[in-house]
Amino acid sequence: MTGMEAIQKRRSIRKFTEEKIREEHRVLLQNEIARINAESGLHVQLITDRPEAFRSFLAHYGGFQNAANYIALVGKDEDDLDEKCGYYGEQLVLKAQEEGLATCWVGGTFNKKKAFYEAAAGEKLCLIIAIGYPAEEGKVHKSKTPAQVMRAEGEIPAWFTDGIEAALLAPTAINQQKFLFTLTPDGKVEATAGNGPFSKVDLGIVKLHFEIGSGKTSLF
Ligand SMILES: Cc1cc2nc3c(=O)[nH]c(=O)nc-3n(C[C@H](O)[C@H](O)[C@H](O)COP(=O)(O)O)c2cc1C
Repeated sequence: MTGMEAIQKRRSIRKFTEEKIREEHRVLLQNEIARINAESGLHVQLITDRPEAFRSFLAHYGGFQNAANYIALVGKDEDDLDEKCGYYGEQLVLKAQEEGLATCWVGGTFNKKKAFYEAAAGEKLCLIIAIGYPAEEGKVHKSKTPAQVMRAEGEIPAWFTDGIEAALLAPTAINQQKFLFTLTPDGKVEATAGNGPFSKVDLGIVKLHFEIGSGKTSLF
């Protein structure tokens, strides 16, 4: 499965089977996490068999079932933490999708007090990603139109609209899609976040999707 196929297939899944994460998947995810931590300086962790994090009124209200595993996005408490968590966390989401695992980003509807994770001095937990085997199909989210999330003058190259299309398929907190991609006259791309909960995490996520969709790496 290519990155773009994973983007097209992915939906947030909140109902999981009772199956534990298989050893092959655990190894694969741990390897990906090690690569990401080395590259980003984040302290991402895979936490398995800890359903407490999803035992709260909010988690129940949010519709989680059999959620027991998650990826904890932890890193240095600095300005770019949210965006980094989005960019690198979504790499794990897409990798999981390729392997038949399902995910859901969770910023609010989990039990932060009961969630288990490690944080060194100066680090904090940004948010988590629930992960497991899907027990539901998930739905395609309602989406803004390309025109609502882009600014570009004159002739627009196909790679730019392909990038926008991939960004619109990305998960965003409360499906807010509060981001804007601008094509500058010299052919560069700028991406900015609007105001809203976790909108900087969303920004990191949509930047990754834009890179995959446009086929251009290291754009930002
Ligand atoms: C940063 C972020 C935080 C999120 N927080 C929650 C959450 O607390 N609870 C929840 O059920 N879903 C949460 N979501 C999932 C979104 O509701 C979901 O991505 C959005 O509705 C789009 O649907 P889709 O992911 O199926 O395309 C979050 C998503 C993102 C990107």
